[in-house]
Amino acid sequence: MTRIAGGAAATAFALERGDAAELAGIQAGLRAVPKILSPRFFYDARGSELFEEITRLPEYYPTRAERAVLAEWMPELIAQLRPRALVELGAGAAEKTRLILDAMSARIPDPVYLPLDVSAEFLLDTAARLRRDYPGLAVRPLVADLELPFTLPRLPGPMLVAFLGSTIGNFNFPEAIRLLRRVRHQMQPGDRFLLGMDLRKDVAVVEAAYNDARGVTAEFNLNALQVLNERVRADFDLGGFRHLAFYRRAAHRIEMHLVAVRAQEVTIPGIGVVAFEEGESVRTEISCKYDRATAVGMLSDADLSLADWRTDPEGRFALALAAPLP
Ligand code: AVJ
Repeated sequence: MTRIAGGAAATAFALERGDAAELAGIQAGLRAVPKILSPRFFYDARGSELFEEITRLPEYYPTRAERAVLAEWMPELIAQLRPRALVELGAGAAEKTRLILDAMSARIPDPVYLPLDVSAEFLLDTAARLRRDYPGLAVRPLVADLELPFTLPRLPGPMLVAFLGSTIGNFNFPEAIRLLRRVRHQMQPGDRFLLGMDLRKDVAVVEAAYNDARGVTAEFNLNALQVLNERVRADFDLGGFRHLAFYRRAAHRIEMHLVAVRAQEVTIPGIGVVAFEEGESVRTEISCKYDRATAVGMLSDADLSLADWRTDPEGRFALALAAPLP
């Protein structure tokens, strides 16, 4: 289900999702063994602010590494591709996107930018700021949930679809391939997909990025419970849980969990009582790490082929450029 953002209506729509479908998802996750929650619950206004703060932490290298690749590559790539439309999946604050938009504004007449995000309020703020900063840019925000099917409107081609920040890493392989395929089947032959991927590296470096000294990531993680308290009137005691993030080597991914510090029960209207044993955790996020071969395989499973691959000088983060396979 998708909908073009239209001010108050779009915001109301996003809040409405706090109802049936979302509640069913929460219920399924909390009844699963082990318990899981969708990382979407991180991103209310406070959580989005905390994430922006994470991107500025000394330990959190992905944002800076990706920005370095974008700064180096986008003027050249945009000059070659000459995309008339940029679609950005999970746009958020669209800070790094400015490196693409700067390159487009300098070269492309009447460019279109379609930021897509699940958080309507945050998306509309981002859209307003970009309209102010890029007067020649047509900004067409789309409220959509990347976990569900969505339909892009007809846009001038060629189109560049960007999915930055290694947000793809929040999806396991089958889910990631499903998402990539959905986008792929809305692409024309001249369109391209630009995918940001955090790379496999020294485990200590990755674990430090999710266990920062100031505890911002812990606060970001715990905020998911606060969001559930507000959105579905759960009664999580935030003091009853602690942040845990570790690298699961066999799966090449970070997992973030919230661990119950004591046995407790949480009540959620419409779901009932959810019991936690002492030490039991709910997994709030996976953040998969990739290498080039994994990227090639994942893309080809989605009918895409790797056209280019650029990393930062330290090889921490990659941007993959992919073309639709016929
Ligand atoms: C925005 C999903 C890419 O997985 O690194 C940051 C979110 N979680 N710190 C990531 C996040 C903890 C981030 N993504």
